[in-house]
Amino acid sequence: MKLIRVENPAEGGKIAFTLLKEQMKAGAKTLGLATGSTPETFYQEIVKSSLDLSDMTSINLDEYVGLAASNQQSYHYFMHKHLFDAKPFKENFLPNGLAKDLAAEVKAYDQLIAKHPIDFQILGIGRNGHIGFNEPGTSFEVTTHVVDLEPDTIEANSRFFASKDEVPKQAISMGIASIMQSKMIVLLAFGKEKAEAVKAMVEGPVTQDLPASILQKHPNVVVIVDQAAAELLD
Ligand code: GLP
Repeated sequence: MKLIRVENPAEGGKIAFTLLKEQMKAGAKTLGLATGSTPETFYQEIVKSSLDLSDMTSINLDEYVGLAASNQQSYHYFMHKHLFDAKPFKENFLPNGLAKDLAAEVKAYDQLIAKHPIDFQILGIGRNGHIGFNEPGTSFEVTTHVVDLEPDTIEANSRFFASKDEVPKQAISMGIASIMQSKMIVLLAFGKEKAEAVKAMVEGPVTQDLPASILQKHPNVVVIVDQAAAELLD
């Protein structure tokens, strides 16, 4: 795990963008993408650049169950707003939160990931240490699955909704085993509410209670943290 400390999210986004360009030069074709406020500065760097993504494939980590792509809180909507509308890809994939048959949807998503191995995966981290929507206690062996969201995650994400009651209770998430297959992983963490999770991820034991701790076992992970998120690190 390589740790890069930055002054603020803007600098973090710039560094992540530099890493992306290096990987694309080296032949990366499939990007694993994340939502949440954390990767926004990274997407801003891409959007204001001249980088051509028209030959690239993207696969997102997760989507809420029950939200249509047109719903402003859906991750489909987020991705179009922050990246895809400005930077067309060859193809973009996200789980279908409206799938009638969720079991078939998760299976199809696994097949999709197998067909397009992820070269460069961008991650945020939940304040409980989740990655994607893999909540504490999730097996490291799991691939795409339907998740019951933790009360802490519903609470944290309620800031994007009119009220806590409107936050979906379930999501479809790429699993930890799938994330670990990515050739390179860049995890961004900004702000003091991530400090405890960052410390446990970097310095704590590898445990399913803190899903991001598994990244200690990945051969090519870069963690980019601002000062507030790094403040508890030794
Ligand atoms: C969300 C997403 C994660 C994200 C995390 C942190 O629930 N599913 O992919 O990394 O929580 O979100 P934020 O970046 O807004 O703090």
